[in-house]
Amino acid sequence: MAKKYLIGITGASGAIYALTLVKALKERGIPFEIIVTEAGKIVIEQELELSWKDLANYAERVYEEREIWAPPASGSASYEGLIIIPCSMGTLAGIASGQAKNLLLRAADVMLKERRSLVLVVRETPLNLIHLQNMLAVTQAGGVIFPAMPGFYHKPKSLEELVEGLVLRLLQFLNLSENSKAWKGLS
Ligand SMILES: Cc1cc2nc3c(=O)[nH]c(=O)nc-3n(C[C@H](O)[C@H](O)[C@H](O)COP(=O)(O)O)c2cc1C
Repeated sequence: MAKKYLIGITGASGAIYALTLVKALKERGIPFEIIVTEAGKIVIEQELELSWKDLANYAERVYEEREIWAPPASGSASYEGLIIIPCSMGTLAGIASGQAKNLLLRAADVMLKERRSLVLVVRETPLNLIHLQNMLAVTQAGGVIFPAMPGFYHKPKSLEELVEGLVLRLLQFLNLSENSKAWKGLS
């Protein structure tokens, strides 16, 4: 059975990271479902000038945050992991404090309790003490903080290439793809 991932999209800036990731997963034939928060829908539409449903169309299934009855709310649903991209400080805080009060927070809680993969592509600047403490708490609970901090060593020539660099690094981290933009050393 192919590994199926959950992709969470929140209201942090950087909806382009989510769009680039879902396209990359689709191209590679990796099955996934999406959970989008209400703020996530707003930021997708504001930053990408797309309907959130256009982005959601890449996924096998899409859930809204209120759908607490859906499969991602249960550890018995066999998702490989959850990648939240971009991840807001609000969602980070909800995970760090175990609130589980919407479908995305509950799905993240499930990943941690089931010892499955939880990766948060967090985006905020600057960071306050609460953000940093929440990142520490999630890391101690077994999650991975994977900041939306693209590298520049592959010399991106466009915004798309910059974002692709981060998404390839993420797929490489999850053992889902080779990273064609990996550092090859100085020639
Ligand atoms: C255009 C826009 C950009 C935002 N960027 C960020 C951001 O980069 N990081 C962040 O933590 N919150 C950001 N926010 C605020 C979140 O959307 C807000 O805290 C929201 O309640 C998060 O809810 P969610 O985690 O359920 O998606 C932004 C909001 C808007 C409208």
